[in-house]
Amino acid sequence: MPAALDRRSFVKGGAASVAAMALGTTALASLAGCGPKQEKAPDAEKPAPQVEAYDIVIVGAGGAGLAAALAAKQGGVAKVLLLEKGIGSGGNTNFSSSGMNASETRFQVKDKIEDTNELFAEDTFKGGHELGERTLVDFMCSNSSAAIDWLDEAGITLDNITQMGGASVKRCHRPTDGSAIGKTLIPGLRDAVEREGVETLVETPATELVVDANGAVTGVKAQTKDGAETTFEAKAVIIAAGGFGSNKEMLRKYRPEVADFVTTNIPYTTGDGMIMAQKAGAELVLMEQVQTHPTVEQTTGALIAEGIRGGGAILINSEGKRFFNEMETRDAVSEAELEQPGKYAYVVYDQQVYESNLDAVSYDERGLSVKAPTLAELASKIKVDTAALEEAVATYNAVTTDGATDPFGRTKGLIAFGSGPFYACKIAPGIHYCMGGIRIDEQSRALDAKGKPIAGLYAAGESTGGLHGSNRLGGNGVCDTMVFGPNAAEQAALYIAKSA
Ligand code: SIN
Repeated sequence: MPAALDRRSFVKGGAASVAAMALGTTALASLAGCGPKQEKAPDAEKPAPQVEAYDIVIVGAGGAGLAAALAAKQGGVAKVLLLEKGIGSGGNTNFSSSGMNASETRFQVKDKIEDTNELFAEDTFKGGHELGERTLVDFMCSNSSAAIDWLDEAGITLDNITQMGGASVKRCHRPTDGSAIGKTLIPGLRDAVEREGVETLVETPATELVVDANGAVTGVKAQTKDGAETTFEAKAVIIAAGGFGSNKEMLRKYRPEVADFVTTNIPYTTGDGMIMAQKAGAELVLMEQVQTHPTVEQTTGALIAEGIRGGGAILINSEGKRFFNEMETRDAVSEAELEQPGKYAYVVYDQQVYESNLDAVSYDERGLSVKAPTLAELASKIKVDTAALEEAVATYNAVTTDGATDPFGRTKGLIAFGSGPFYACKIAPGIHYCMGGIRIDEQSRALDAKGKPIAGLYAAGESTGGLHGSNRLGGNGVCDTMVFGPNAAEQAALYIAKSA
């Protein structure tokens, strides 16, 4: 995917070239009508309803869905279908900008980073203000290292590790060149599912789950591209359809205070998977927990990655002053920004940060950053007080070099500013992630309000609720999808084997 492709252009399906770049060849084949047979009924305006049979149908071909599809095939499931309502696979994960948190990995060992699954779980639980489901937290963290190895085996190597907010140590794993993870992860997974023979139908929104007389989920109804209502019968269904960060109505219902904020989400994340699961009996939990990301460019919804701050960037307000610990959790940083004059801030960094975070090149190309050879010229360009900006950088540099105590308590991601050029991106909080969703257990089974699993229904990724409590740590979104996506597939395969 080219750097210039952003979240908004992703949905402008009229641009064939954009669509082609965002699609894998299976998806392109299905666009060309090579997916399941959808014959038009003669003499009828609306094509006749169709029925297709699969072992596992996955609703949503984002990160969690692709990972689930790959694991299902690797586990020997014969017929796996990915249903995607967007023009291409990858979903929000296409734009995932930092990396994947994981602990006790061989890449951490290589870099002499001491970490444990327990410390990762503790950070995750604390970061979510102890509202997370502890069993899910422990499960994710203790399976994170295996997920890194699994991706490596699929040709997706994440061996460049950076610091993220709320993390006790460096554990955010990125591609070798320090680029945004989505640009490596999604093409890699897409290729892998194609190689394994997963069928993908894009522009095919799922509309309803099929539930039998015993309450078991036995399929999905969807609207195929030719307008036919197709029932995809399935022995098990996995909901991996993302959150509701682009659904104003749901945001107004569950978290009205942020409903009018700009969103980093692609327009397809409208909570459909959650609603479908709820109608089939699943409980939705923590729905009011919607995360704002503190560094979002407000005219485009583009995200300035947390890894930029982890790599040494600072935040300054419209007066040129630092105001908060940049490595605090997202909820805390967002709140601090909203208390600043004008309710915005700038992410400011030097050439070292630019070079070690390839995404910064795309900020430059997309006009999201302002560049200047000196701090004084940068201050003048962004219209902040020069002396204040120089003082902010000098004080920060003293912390990194003299070991002075940071006035804002920052202890992580401290890397001194070197020489110019310097960069600034104007940002404010934007809707980023839904911590609430379908209640699941460690077997990724969708649960009803009594905690009873709904037979045949599994869920993974942002469609689920409970793992991240009231605040997700940066880098834990990808870890969630790469642990629980495959887990849902493995558990669904076991369920199918047992029911046979
Ligand atoms: C970021 O890099 O700031 C976004 C990645 C995430 O949400 O985990």
